[in-house]
Amino acid sequence: MHHFEYCNGTIHCEDVPIETIAGEVGTPFYCYSYATLTRHFNAFDEAFSDVDHLTCFSVKSCSNIAILRLFASLGSGMDIVSGGELYRALKAGVPPEKIVFSGVGKTAEEIIYALETGILMFNLESPQEMMALNECAVRLGRRAPMAIRVNPDVDPHTHPYISTGLKENKFGINLEIAESMYAQAREMSNLDIVGVGCHIGSQLTEVSPFLDTLRRLKLLIEALRKEGIQVRYLDLGGGLGITYSEEDPPHPREYGRALLQEVNGLDCGLIFEPGRVIVGNAGILVTRVLYTKEGPVKNFLVVDAGMNDLIRPSLYDSYHQIQPVVDNKRPELQADVVGPICETGDFLARERSLPRVEQGELLAVMSAGAYGFTMSSNYNSRPRVPEILVRGDAFEVIRSRETYEDLVRGERLPDFLIDG
Ligand SMILES: Cc1ncc(COP(=O)(O)O)c(C=O)c1O
Repeated sequence: MHHFEYCNGTIHCEDVPIETIAGEVGTPFYCYSYATLTRHFNAFDEAFSDVDHLTCFSVKSCSNIAILRLFASLGSGMDIVSGGELYRALKAGVPPEKIVFSGVGKTAEEIIYALETGILMFNLESPQEMMALNECAVRLGRRAPMAIRVNPDVDPHTHPYISTGLKENKFGINLEIAESMYAQAREMSNLDIVGVGCHIGSQLTEVSPFLDTLRRLKLLIEALRKEGIQVRYLDLGGGLGITYSEEDPPHPREYGRALLQEVNGLDCGLIFEPGRVIVGNAGILVTRVLYTKEGPVKNFLVVDAGMNDLIRPSLYDSYHQIQPVVDNKRPELQADVVGPICETGDFLARERSLPRVEQGELLAVMSAGAYGFTMSSNYNSRPRVPEILVRGDAFEVIRSRETYEDLVRGERLPDFLIDG
C-alpha cells in the first residue's frame, strides 16, 4: 500500500498534486511519501515486536539524510557499507550503537572512523578483513565488536546481480570456514565476538530461502556455543521483495511469523537490514515527455529522465510501472520509454502499453524509492535530480537539483594547461 493515487484525474502524493511539485521544481525529480515511509517501516518493525530485535534500515537503498532521520525517529538503526554512509547516518542523528557495518571491502580509514564512532558491530567478510579490524582496534586501543557474515550457499531465486548468498558470490564466508574463523577471532587481542550475520540477496519473493539460511545459521550458532563462543546477535540481513509488477512477496507480518517460528528458543537478539521493502514503493520518479517519435518498427517516448537517474531497468532489466500523471483516458499505444543518454541501453521501459501521451506531459515511474536516486550518476554530465518529501498537503525539497557548477566541483586545470 502506498500514497500515490489518482485524485480528480491527476496523481497526488498524499494530498499534493504531482503537477504542483513539477511546476515548482521542474522535472525530473524523485518524490517520497512520508506516510508511506512511516507505514512501511512500522509494518516491518512491528512484525518482530514480540522479540528483542533491531531494525537497521539499509542506507544504500535510499540515503537522503531526511529519510534516515525519519527512520531514526521511529527507532531504526542503520546498515551501512561505507564511511560515506556512516557519515550520513551520524549526520541524520542515528545513535552509533544502532549501526552495523557490512561490505566486502572496508578500508582501514573506514574501519577507524567506525571504531572511533562506537558502532554496534562490524560484519566481516574475509580473514584478512578480520586482521585489519584487529590491527585498527589495537592502534586505537579499543575493542572491536564483530560478527562474521556467513555465505550459506542458498539460492534466493532473484536476479543474479542481486543474489549474494551463493558460494560463487563474492560475499560472506563459507559456513565450514566460518567456524574456524570464529575460533581465530577469539584469539585476537582486540576483537569481541558479538554476532553472526548474513544477507543472501535482494528482492526475494518467497520465505523459504530465508528459512533455509536461518536453519544453517542456527547450526553454526549451536556449534559455536559448544565451543564456548557466545553469540548475542543474529543478523538476518535484508532482502524482502516488493511488488513491481506481478510479484507476490510475503507481507512483513508473514515473513516475521515464519522466521520467528524457526528462531524460537535461540536466545539471540535479532537484527534486520531491510531496504527495498521499506522504501521501494514509497518513492516515484517524475519525468516529462520531451518528444514522441515514431521509428520504422517502434514508437518512442523520449523523456527527460535517463539511465543516469534510474539505472535499474538498464542494469537488471527491471520493471517499473509507468503511469501518466494526468489520467488522460486515451487509448493505449505501445512504446519504448527512453531517456536522453547516448546509450541504446538507456530506457525506463520497453514495448510498454501506455495510454497515449503527448509532448510535454508528465509520467510517473512507480516504485522507484529503492536503489533509484542512490544509484544515480552524472553520466553524460547530467546534474542529479532533486528529491522531494511530501507530508500531508506540504512538500519539502530534501535535496536540491544539482547545478552545472556542481558538476565540475573539485575539478581543476593543471598549470601546464593554463595559457601564459
Ligand atoms: C549487506 C546488505 N544488507 C541489506 C541490504 C538491503 O537489501 P534489501 O534492500 O533487499 O532489503 C543489502 C542490499 O544489497 C545488503 O547488501
